Amino acid sequence: MTAETSTLDFTIVPNPSPFPEEDRLKAFEALGFGTLFSDHMAVVQWSADRGWHSAMIKARAPFLIDPASAVLHYGQEIFEGMKAYRDASGRAVLFRPDENAKRFNESARRMAMPEIPEELFLAAIEQLVKVDARWIPQGEGSLYLRPFMFANEAFLGVRPSREYIFCVIASPVGPYFKGGEKAVSIYVSEHYTRAAIGGTGAAKCGGNYAGSLAAQAEAAEHQCDQVVFLDAAERKWIEELGGMNVFFVFEDGSITTSPLGTILPGITRKSLIALARQDGIKVSETPYSFEEWKRDAQSGQLKEAFACGTAAVVAGIGSFKFKDGALQIGDGQTGPVTRKLREQLVGIQRGRQPDPHGWVQVLEGI
Ligand code: PLP
Ligand code: COI
Repeated sequence: MTAETSTLDFTIVPNPSPFPEEDRLKAFEALGFGTLFSDHMAVVQWSADRGWHSAMIKARAPFLIDPASAVLHYGQEIFEGMKAYRDASGRAVLFRPDENAKRFNESARRMAMPEIPEELFLAAIEQLVKVDARWIPQGEGSLYLRPFMFANEAFLGVRPSREYIFCVIASPVGPYFKGGEKAVSIYVSEHYTRAAIGGTGAAKCGGNYAGSLAAQAEAAEHQCDQVVFLDAAERKWIEELGGMNVFFVFEDGSITTSPLGTILPGITRKSLIALARQDGIKVSETPYSFEEWKRDAQSGQLKEAFACGTAAVVAGIGSFKFKDGALQIGDGQTGPVTRKLREQLVGIQRGRQPDPHGWVQVLEGI
């Protein structure tokens, strides 16, 4: 079977031994994040002489790669994170998938990798979701989609690879944080940084996450859910969490979030800024310092803080810890501004609210 797209035709080879339906239903009763996977994957290959070719949907299975494969040595790898939902009327929908396609190519450029035509990126997602439609949870869960690309040339010289594999896998997910909607705690890393000016902070490359793990482990040692990084130049300005952007809500009703540059340009961040502004909230994308954060939390000027991202959606931050202390934000719970923004965003994603910006893309016939 082949599925025609405007770019490449996908050869579809169904998984001969799909997950038993009974086991899938059982697994869906308690979905966590990222441990359960659907039956198929999308794979497209790229080589310097052929460009993009061999588009397939096939059984999810391990890759056979050469031990000299460039990704294993120099980490030339990028990825995206997005979700397919069942909306209120049962349709399968994606949220701003074109933004993921664009960001993927921005990451590709930064990592000296080939760009993938946006239509091909989107076709791979659509084809996979179509074949694995039974893996989209009903209710509050979603099908997390993980497009990624890695360098696959067997060559030990340090230069961009001449072969790549683009792949999309799918994982039905529930809440990212175990506490569900409970406010999370974060640890300020005063030792490790995530991204330098001119570095790869704005790209979604595996190396950024590998570099964040020691800091995240430090956060866990301090009983915190996530780490938050300061800028690398002055170690003064709050940048973002290991896997989420961060916002602060003040007594006068205004909101601040870190400016773009060395942080990941989050699609949730961009959407929440638009929603807040539409509600008449003053939103500034200006640097906010660790010193200001401590001062404002102590004085009560800072009312709320929240983290946001595709996986975590919008999570209230109740407290933060650092080398010399710990502070609570507001009453330590998820605040009303955070809750309202979350409801608005999720409402649009789930088709419970109008979508004036046209962010939701319906996957017809799925
Ligand atoms: N920042 C980092 C480091 C991330 O990993 C993510 C998650 O993708 C985000 C921010 C939020 O980005 P988005 O809202 O596009 O998922
Ligand atoms: C996402 O939100 O999609 C991410 O990639 C972040 C990661 C922590 C799961």
